[in-house]
Amino acid sequence: MLKLYILLGITALLLPGPSRSQSAESAQPRPGYAGDTACLDCHKQQGLSYLHTSHHLTSQLANKNSVLGSFAPGLNTLMIADPARTPAQPALYFKMEAKNGGYYETAVTGWGKDLLTQTERIDIVTGSGVRGVTYLYWKGDRLYELPVSYWTDGYRWINSPGYDNGTAKFSRPINPGCLECHASYIRPLSTDPLTNSYERDSLVPGISCETCHGPGAEHVARQKAATAATQGQAILNPAKFSRDRQVDLCALCHNGIQRQALAQAFSYVPGEPLANYFKPLPPDPSSPAAEHPDVHGNQVGLLERSRCYHSSPNMTCSTCHDVHAPEHPAAWYSAKCLTCHQWQSCAMAKTMGHRIAANCIDCHMPVEPTNVIVSDTAGKEVRAKMRNHWINVYPGAQMP
Ligand code: HEC
Ligand code: HEC
Ligand code: HEC
Ligand code: HEC
Ligand code: HEC
Ligand code: HEC
Ligand code: HEC
Repeated sequence: MLKLYILLGITALLLPGPSRSQSAESAQPRPGYAGDTACLDCHKQQGLSYLHTSHHLTSQLANKNSVLGSFAPGLNTLMIADPARTPAQPALYFKMEAKNGGYYETAVTGWGKDLLTQTERIDIVTGSGVRGVTYLYWKGDRLYELPVSYWTDGYRWINSPGYDNGTAKFSRPINPGCLECHASYIRPLSTDPLTNSYERDSLVPGISCETCHGPGAEHVARQKAATAATQGQAILNPAKFSRDRQVDLCALCHNGIQRQALAQAFSYVPGEPLANYFKPLPPDPSSPAAEHPDVHGNQVGLLERSRCYHSSPNMTCSTCHDVHAPEHPAAWYSAKCLTCHQWQSCAMAKTMGHRIAANCIDCHMPVEPTNVIVSDTAGKEVRAKMRNHWINVYPGAQMP
């Protein structure tokens, strides 16, 4: 009996959403949301610099500006096994081509003249390119990751993280959780958290103002009708949240993936406790992350371990970051440390003198390789390097 209930529960979860034919014509905007363009009319100060941020650029439709990597002959190949050099082995290589007004990835496998190919078009670009970009493609209403990504360090093509070296697969599904962190919205066609079918036209690429400020259509209407002063702004300002709720907003995407969704993707509303939307999962005890949390995408978990954070009830991510403007070089942030510390109170001040004043970051928030974004490409490992947000004493760390 219990089993049956569980089965029924799963069926309910898997019930299809609106059918393809229904959704194709609708592609309605999300009710209550106005879109970034509406905000830019009045908030030029935040808006114009925001367009250059990694948040805004973290997913885009494929076009000549968003698609990175070389498509020029000679530079457009990722060779895994070269048939000319290893005649005993099947060939495997990927070719990236710009043709027919689009960008394509082709896998070529096989022996001698019996070569098999699969070609798919690059439809969506994820990642701003600070570190790299991963490409996605549509098959009907299903969304998948392409096998080859572009990596900025070395300006090269690599196997996409999540694909094994030596395989020519195009089958890694893109679930809503991925887009919840890298886009503003897409309407899934199923309530299964692992679905990869969507209403294609509903995608709102990039992270929009309303991801952090909540739906803004009513705010725009009231501002235009000049009734906001009497009726209220009808928009969320995170500066007015408690510290925990402010950090929750960033934790929606900056607290790692060691968690279980309790609600639909894209249902989180800023200002609400994130614990109602995600349940943290215990770290895998066999992974080094249990002792030393991975630096990838877990700035919240790391900052929360810092003594600075415990001892300063008002410290948030905004103490150092203005998300409306592009990032600064690391040295710029030393001034932020010095809003609470004096350089003379660092134990190194006596021996190293004033030159430490512009370098707090290198020693107390060192850059470390992550174990999460790893690509294994033709025997070489490519790892992203991240800034450790656990502000601490790292005995080995040095100024550059
Ligand atoms: C027609 C002009 C107009 C448009 C369009 C507009 N705003 Fe505003 N907004 C204002 C004005 C005016 C204020 C009040 C400014 C102030 O008090 O400093 C404001 C205030 C805000 C605040 C601060 C609210 C508070 O309680 O402190 C936020 C956040 C905000 N807007 C975000 C947005 C977003 C996001 C959009 C797009 C969805 C948007 N605005 C569209 C004019 C506009
Ligand atoms: C909806 C998900 C989401 C939310 C909410 C979010 N971020 Fe991000 N953030 C991202 C993603 C994804 C990236 C990586 C963008 C890229 O390079 O493609 C990023 C990048 C950043 C960066 C690096 C920017 C750079 O130029 O390298 C900073 C700093 C940052 N976020 C801070 C914050 C802070 C502070 C908050 C809370 C106020 C926040 N983020 C909220 C998803 C989010
Ligand atoms: C990643 C999250 C995020 C995004 C995206 C974002 N904001 Fe903000 N916004 C914040 C936070 C956090 C604050 C409060 C900052 C603080 O503590 O001072 C804020 C504050 C504001 C304010 C109030 C400023 C003031 O001085 O009181 C306005 C207006 C605003 N944002 C407009 C925008 C507009 C317009 C966009 C899109 C172009 C945008 N924001 C995108 C997180 C975000
Ligand atoms: C829990 C939120 C989250 C999820 C889920 C997530 N990412 Fe990310 N991703 C981030 C953040 C945050 C960054 C910025 C780097 C960092 O902090 O580690 C990032 C960085 C990236 C980058 C490098 C961007 C750059 O140029 O720096 C790519 C590419 C990327 N993610 C692709 C994906 C893809 C594809 C998926 C889904 C299969 C995915 N991510 C799932 C939050 C997430
Ligand atoms: C909002 C204020 C604030 C900011 C900003 C801040 N700190 Fe702190 N920090 C503190 C407080 C408070 C303590 C605890 C002092 C104590 O307990 O004696 C502390 C502790 C520390 C410690 C001791 C850590 C330990 O575990 O022993 C170091 C090192 C440190 N901070 C470095 C930095 C650096 C570097 C920056 C900039 C990246 C920074 N802090 C930014 C407030 C801050
Ligand atoms: C004490 C200052 C400070 C605080 C507080 C802080 N950051 Fe950072 N953050 C930095 C510095 C410094 C960098 C590195 C900038 C650079 O290298 O150009 C950085 C970089 C980042 C990056 C880019 C990834 C990387 O490794 O370069 C992300 C994402 C980010 N911060 C998110 C956050 C989030 C989310 C919070 C709140 C939980 C937060 N930060 C709080 C100082 C801070
Ligand atoms: C060359 C690396 C280096 C630089 C640069 C540096 N620190 Fe330190 N800092 C250290 C080390 C190592 C210690 C621990 C020394 C010890 O305990 O013997 C330390 C100790 C501290 C402490 C005291 C921790 C405690 O509780 O004893 C604070 C606070 C601190 N640093 C803040 C800063 C600030 C702020 C800056 C930038 C102005 C800075 N440091 C620059 C390496 C550095």
